[in-house]
Amino acid sequence: MNPKQLVGEEAAKYVKNGMVIGLGTGSTAFFAIQKIGELVKNGLQIKGVPTSKATEELAKSLNIPLLAIEDVKRIDVTIDGADEFDPQKNLIKGGGAALLREKIIASVTDFYVIIADAAKGSEVLGSFAVPVEITPFAKEITMAQLKALGCQPVLRVKDGQAVVTDNQNYIADCKFERIDEPAKLAAKMNAIPGVVENGIFAGMANVVISEDGNGGLLSL
Ligand code: A5P
Repeated sequence: MNPKQLVGEEAAKYVKNGMVIGLGTGSTAFFAIQKIGELVKNGLQIKGVPTSKATEELAKSLNIPLLAIEDVKRIDVTIDGADEFDPQKNLIKGGGAALLREKIIASVTDFYVIIADAAKGSEVLGSFAVPVEITPFAKEITMAQLKALGCQPVLRVKDGQAVVTDNQNYIADCKFERIDEPAKLAAKMNAIPGVVENGIFAGMANVVISEDGNGGLLSL
């Protein structure tokens, strides 16, 4: 089985009848959502909360009932992917530009399940450039302030245009050498006025499930 499907289906085992489930974004979360769609088709009763417009469309196509964001109080389980993780389960997320909604949903989640290729694991975060959602207004000032924290911010561009997030903001990808104190760095980034949210998810994940390269499962 494709490793992404393996971990996606493993994560779907956390989903139980009656739960409110956060639905992540990306090519790994896709398989968990597919599996949840199958379970719903077979009678499972849950309500989903999507972390992006793309996931909302996917969930609707699978007839997964969705809870309006204004009605969300707590979420039992959220299943999402990640771009990098460390042994303490700190994460870098936002490769798919969905980090703001992902972090809001993670912040009200009781049990946060991350599914990712084992190759995304590292001893110290920093291999993946940290995606930072910034306001279009004064992006140059914000990127200079991010640079002062010790990274090389690059505005994310696609087809010659700045990538616009679901929240009408931009993404600056910020490559650091190594991130020894992820929570501290996250707080420093969020203290910059033009930063809406950053892609460091420190101390949020309850479990990280990955594939060992031989069809077996690993979990942190
Ligand atoms: C979306 O913004 C990201 O946080 C994704 O969760 C992350 O990029 C993982 O995506 P893949 O599962 O496609 O690698």
